[in-house]
Amino acid sequence: MHEGDCMEIMQGMDPESVDAVVTDPPYNIGFKYATYKDNMPQEDYIKWQTEMVTMAGKLIRPGGSFFYLHYPEVASRMFWQDTGMDRLKLIAWIYNQHTGGSPLRRGTRLWCWWTKGGPYINKEGTFGEYKNLNDKRIKQNIEAGKRPVDYDWWQYEQVKNVSSEKTCHPCQLPLKMLERIINMVVPPEGTVLDPFAGSGTTGLAAENMGRNSILIEKDAGYCGIIRNRLDKLQMTIFNF
Ligand SMILES: C[S@@+](CC[C@H](N)C(=O)[O-])C[C@H]1O[C@@H](n2cnc3c(N)ncnc32)[C@H](O)[C@@H]1O
Repeated sequence: MHEGDCMEIMQGMDPESVDAVVTDPPYNIGFKYATYKDNMPQEDYIKWQTEMVTMAGKLIRPGGSFFYLHYPEVASRMFWQDTGMDRLKLIAWIYNQHTGGSPLRRGTRLWCWWTKGGPYINKEGTFGEYKNLNDKRIKQNIEAGKRPVDYDWWQYEQVKNVSSEKTCHPCQLPLKMLERIINMVVPPEGTVLDPFAGSGTTGLAAENMGRNSILIEKDAGYCGIIRNRLDKLQMTIFNF
């Protein structure tokens, strides 16, 4: 794990040294992180994020993948930036949101999925589930050993204060969603990089899936959460 600015730290990393990048950057919405100021002029932010994706993309081996999460308005713009990688897919993460929102409640984010050439994909990680098991055609498929290909939308609830996996980080991603991505695009014992590690969910997911991780986080307090989480020690409560 590296404590510091991801742009500086990535400059010191070897090109083509990781199998995938999976990250969820600050969204530039004025969010109250402990130290990071989440309120750049939007065009500066897009420029910074494009530079970050391009730089991190160079660290990926041929056949590797880049998963980048954002609100649909920004993800759909970022997806079309020139990052030196191939565009493969936009995947929707949908979740329930019980309050707020105008004129509509927000319950979607998009994963931009870029690749370096034909990607490594673990086929076992791309199967979904049959929903209507009483349907005659589905019964026939099951008997024939045919499995359904997964959707390009995934539903996971956000990590709430009452969630058992919740740490003190204010915007933690669901562990199961990151395990799903890592299982799909990082080869066994391969390495995933997260330049905006937050509470280290990418690292924990990698550990759970038998993969390695390189985590970068600027905030010293959040780095403490990561250390505790990855060491599986009892969580420390930080007073930010
Ligand atoms: C959206 S959060 C990531 C949350 C993470 N996905 C999780 O599940 O915990 C973004 C993180 O990026 C960190 N950050 C902001 N600017 C950074 C930079 N230049 N380099 C490294 N980390 C940075 C923030 O401190 C914050 O913890």
